[in-house]
Amino acid sequence: MNSSLDRHPARLRRSVLCVPADNVRALAKVASLSCDAVIYDLEDAVSYDNKAAARKTLADHLAKARRGDIEVIVRINSLKTPFGEKDLLAALAMAPDVILLPKVESPQDIQSVVDFLSENDALDSLRLWAMIETPRGVLNAAAIAETGRTRGGRLDCFVPGLNDLRKETGVPSLPGRVYLVPWLMQVLLAARSCGLDVIDAVFNDFHDDAGFAAECAQGRDMGFDGKMLIHPVQIGPANRHFGVDDNAVTEARSIIDAFALAENADKAVINLNGQMVERLHLEQALKLVAKADAIHKKGKKS
Ligand code: COA
Ligand code: MG
Repeated sequence: MNSSLDRHPARLRRSVLCVPADNVRALAKVASLSCDAVIYDLEDAVSYDNKAAARKTLADHLAKARRGDIEVIVRINSLKTPFGEKDLLAALAMAPDVILLPKVESPQDIQSVVDFLSENDALDSLRLWAMIETPRGVLNAAAIAETGRTRGGRLDCFVPGLNDLRKETGVPSLPGRVYLVPWLMQVLLAARSCGLDVIDAVFNDFHDDAGFAAECAQGRDMGFDGKMLIHPVQIGPANRHFGVDDNAVTEARSIIDAFALAENADKAVINLNGQMVERLHLEQALKLVAKADAIHKKGKKS
């Protein structure tokens, strides 16, 4: 099995909804939603004047309302801002699964948080995600991803941020994200080089169903694990697009069954219905079936 499968067997991250930490109506809504993960945002979705209140509102909310099947992510402000350190301490006390760091530009940006977490007795299971949303962040993505491999490294996932990247570069919003695709693929490749997950950027026009569907399809074909979302209406389509294809699952099961036959036990490559199938395909098949099983299990609960 490959390393990314070993690290987190079939963790679903198809739909990753952003919820402003100070929006009590939106916070209350989470309990009824079918997203795989929620990013509780203390950064851009909260005004400067409301940062302290947002920390308190979110802490109160997470103390009483939490669903085991939704990954809990808290996005803090950068440690380079006056809010970052307070956010980090507050987030730590909320015991999330993940802390999401905005505007990560260098390995040091990750390392300083890793050191801070160790000094503050964070659980080993606490993961870090990084927003890659500045020109330097994109250029340094490979080096940043490497921090996930170091001893005690907590980095687990990249999220490219296109709103910031457009602002920083002047590249406009065009159909098909035409001039942004190379940077998205660069971030994706950097993530995969270290076995990290990677989530596609937000789509701002939440009334444009067709545009959103097209961008989900594009993100899936580019290899993303899921999509960062801004509105509940985007959850269903994201779950579908980043889910599994039934025919592909059937084919995956036949690959697993074929390699399980005694006659194929020592073979590296087999002929399956006229197709060459190697053990790397078996790894992919196992991963896909594990994802299908996780979706099935989650569907039964909700
Ligand atoms: N999470 C949970 N619930 C949400 C939500 C979200 N991100 N966005 C909207 N809702 C809820 C609303 O509270 C409302 O429920 P209610 O009637 O019980 O209050 C319902 O969904 C319909 O909302 P709607 O009227 O269509 O939108 P809105 O005007 O309330 O909010 C936005 C629109 C864009 C302000 C809101 O979706 C939002 O804040 N999104 C997240 C933005 C963010 O986090 N940005 C930073 C990262 S990119
Ligand atoms: Mg941003």
